[in-house]
Amino acid sequence: MSEEKPKYGWYVKNLILAFNTVGLFGIIVFIIGLIILGMLGVILSIIGIALMVFFLWPGIGLAVMNVILDKADSEVQGMDIISKIQSPRVLDIGCGTGRTAIKIAKSLPKGGHLNGIDIYNVNAISGNSLETVNRNAELEGVSDKTTFQYGSATEIPFEDNKFNIVNLSSVLHEVHDYEDKERAMKEIHRVLKPKGFLIIGEWNRYSWQLILYSGIFCLVFQKRKYWDDLIRKHGFKILNYENFGGYVQFTAQK
Ligand SMILES: C[S@@+](CC[C@H](N)C(=O)[O-])C[C@H]1O[C@@H](n2cnc3c(N)ncnc32)[C@H](O)[C@@H]1O
Repeated sequence: MSEEKPKYGWYVKNLILAFNTVGLFGIIVFIIGLIILGMLGVILSIIGIALMVFFLWPGIGLAVMNVILDKADSEVQGMDIISKIQSPRVLDIGCGTGRTAIKIAKSLPKGGHLNGIDIYNVNAISGNSLETVNRNAELEGVSDKTTFQYGSATEIPFEDNKFNIVNLSSVLHEVHDYEDKERAMKEIHRVLKPKGFLIIGEWNRYSWQLILYSGIFCLVFQKRKYWDDLIRKHGFKILNYENFGGYVQFTAQK
């Protein structure tokens, strides 16, 4: 009998499928363009190349990124502050299937607890649901120190000054309106204890790794300065930021 493994899912799986479908169509158009002679052939070849650059590139790049993530068994970076807090209470916003939240839970010292909230957008991660994250926590042996529930970054379902650490890994770019991002930052500030820590990880628009993975769609993401300004504007002091392959992680304090 095979042992059940946690299922963390693929980020933007539906989008990857759509990109690759259009990209493959681009290959066909390009080949037809090569076969047909004359101006029409040239136009079709150019359209084919454009479809490949715009769609096949991110289609393949993002699939490769997911394969790398599935294989990687890395520690959560920048979480060394956890060990310095007695019985830490951690909130992971946008926990999804628990890829980051469960790693954080594994590093919790005795008496610590992690709460995870998410709106469970199924387009963000395949298999994204409360059932999946609870099952993954069970399989990873952290059920007793984690609680997952439905909840939005813009309306956090917890009282004021509850958490020592709030973590958001690759989440805030999905809160599309700037006003909602501001609402989320105010909510985070509210639920953090005085001197509590905020950790935000986001993709950096012009990093070569992001461009390699997502091609032209790197424009969906913001530059580092954007996050820097948003964090400072909401009463946090940035203590540190680190670059992990195009992914910038800020550690800030209330
Ligand atoms: C790219 S996934 C990252 C998941 C997880 N943090 C990880 O490291 O694997 C983004 C997650 O943010 C969630 N999300 C998007 N908007 C949200 C919001 N307003 N409040 C809470 N979660 C949100 C999505 O449902 C999705 O699970």
